[in-house]
Amino acid sequence: MRILVTGGCGFIGSNFIRYILQHYKPAYVTNVDVLTYAGNLANLDGVVEEHGERYEFFKADIANADQMDALMTEHRFYAVINFAAESHVDRSINDPLNFIHTNIIGTSVLLDCARRHGVQRFIQVSTDEVYGSLGPGGKFTEQSPLDPSSPYSASKAGADLLAVACYKTYSQDVLVTRCSNNYGQYQFPEKLIPLMIIKALRDEPLPVYGDGMNV
Ligand SMILES: NC(=O)c1ccc[n+]([C@@H]2O[C@H](COP(=O)([O-])OP(=O)(O)OC[C@H]3O[C@@H](n4cnc5c(N)ncnc54)[C@H](O)[C@@H]3O)[C@@H](O)[C@H]2O)c1
Repeated sequence: MRILVTGGCGFIGSNFIRYILQHYKPAYVTNVDVLTYAGNLANLDGVVEEHGERYEFFKADIANADQMDALMTEHRFYAVINFAAESHVDRSINDPLNFIHTNIIGTSVLLDCARRHGVQRFIQVSTDEVYGSLGPGGKFTEQSPLDPSSPYSASKAGADLLAVACYKTYSQDVLVTRCSNNYGQYQFPEKLIPLMIIKALRDEPLPVYGDGMNV
């Protein structure tokens, strides 16, 4: 069984690849990553040595339909797991176009390619930020309305809607996950938890959005 992991040189994708190769011995992994500032080949140091031909890497943009098509012609993937994204809220406020390119066009290209090539399952890794700020209700559910507050979360919500539309229109087997903030090994230090820790260690002010009550 071979799976296509996109954005596998980023924080969560690289942890996922290590986990899958370690725990699911029949799995072969192809990692596609264009290596933006957030992608780091060193996040997967030692993987080839440990897992050999069960892991391979292609440098490519998920929005490049020809390259995605060629890859899915070369391999018959059981599943696509789409971690590739522009993922930093502040950067999306300054430069939203990259977010539209990767998060919306890239996801659309992958969904289309996966369907045409008979990929059985598509997992779209999204974010709880598509729900916007938590109101007095105190929690989100899968039924909560989409109410994104930044170009980042709007682009992720757009990708989610495309994924759900593929399920409704073509009966494509699509799953959308919307996790909250993650932290851990291989995370780029611009993100909330490493940023706060680094600033606290340096005795620098901690950046707070709004009045600090937004969740
Ligand atoms: N980190 C979190 O706390 C968090 C929370 C909720 C959801 N998510 C979602 O999880 C996914 C992974 O997040 P992360 O924190 O690992 O992100 P990350 O920024 O660390 O990694 C993203 C990876 O995608 C690659 N990439 C970007 N554009 C690409 C393109 N056009 N083609 C191919 N590769 C491209 C980058 O090079 C990088 O390796 C994202 O979709 C993000 O929206 C993350």
